Amino acid sequence: MERVFDFSAGPAVLPVSVLKKAQESLVCYPDAGISVLEMSHRSKPFEAIIESAEANIRKLYNIPDSYRVLFLQGGAIMQFAMIPMNILKGSGKAADYIVTGTWSKKALSEAKTQGTCNTAWNGSETSFKRKPANFELKLDKSAAYCYICSNETIEGVQWQVLPEVGNVPLVCDSSSDIFSKPIDITKYGVLFACAQKNAGPAGVTIVIMRDDLVAKSDDNIPSLLNYKKMSEAKSLLNTPPTFPIYMVKLVTDWLLDDVGGLDKMYVTNKEKAAMLYDIIDNSDGFYTGHANKEFRSTMNVPFRLPSEELDKKFQQEAKEIGLTTLGGHRSVGGLRASIYNAMPKEGVEKLAEFMKAFMKKEK
Ligand SMILES: Cc1ncc(COP(=O)(O)O)c(C=O)c1O
Repeated sequence: MERVFDFSAGPAVLPVSVLKKAQESLVCYPDAGISVLEMSHRSKPFEAIIESAEANIRKLYNIPDSYRVLFLQGGAIMQFAMIPMNILKGSGKAADYIVTGTWSKKALSEAKTQGTCNTAWNGSETSFKRKPANFELKLDKSAAYCYICSNETIEGVQWQVLPEVGNVPLVCDSSSDIFSKPIDITKYGVLFACAQKNAGPAGVTIVIMRDDLVAKSDDNIPSLLNYKKMSEAKSLLNTPPTFPIYMVKLVTDWLLDDVGGLDKMYVTNKEKAAMLYDIIDNSDGFYTGHANKEFRSTMNVPFRLPSEELDKKFQQEAKEIGLTTLGGHRSVGGLRASIYNAMPKEGVEKLAEFMKAFMKKEK
């Protein structure tokens, strides 16, 4: 069977060159004589792998020495709890949550198990189609942190300009847009992302955290949930997800060496997204996008056809020509094309051609 163009929201497409590199070294990693899958996390070759993954991430985001880069487990949802457990609980403060979609809503409900949280803005009344303007935010100047999700994977809304939060640390779930564009990391107190969309396979979560926030972890927090202890142990307090970390190293090598950095990645990502949004915008209502134009995501493009039958037919016929996993999230239905970094331009072009042909036939 040939590879298809798969538009899954995650776990998602990986660069073919990365898969091939992983395949080449799967049986025998150079100079190790064994696979990364069989390698001790305390061995020299693995030490080099995790150090190189961290160095790549630091290079891509130009991360200063005053930030830690951690490789943790439990997915992004574990971070929904770990952040308030370490930074909010016992601080005597509250945390602000800007709720722009399903994932920030879930983060807020997890955080409430750990401390007082305020909803600084809630986009649910407007079906999570947009981000708030600064004047709409009810921010607490002394909050422990202000939480956002930079790209809501389900609704396809993305922050293009960060909210103004003053000196309050900004905490960001960047699971579905990490490494999709250059950012100024110093604007964030914490930025985290599960790997399985834009950074590697499932199993590892990247956490980039400012030192003063890492230092806040209380000693009574269990070790594996404790940023300070995990950071002191360089993410090796227990056996880490060694193979996913190796894959993150390969994906970040690809971003640096093959793509040529995040500026270039961003140009391609905008071009890919524009191909689909142009068709939606020029379809006279045959295709309806979800998010308002100025907040549309470059990573996840949710859209609908005039009926559920047509949504199904679209998916079926797309699948027949090798365009797969185009169904919307089970909570909202419709269709969604996730076009992460590793989705080749040809894949988006093929989808765009199919969208045009389908419209011509069914409109
Ligand atoms: C923005 C965002 N946050 C969090 C998650 C949850 O990630 P995990 O399944 O790794 O906990 C997802 C997964 O789809 C996501 O898209």
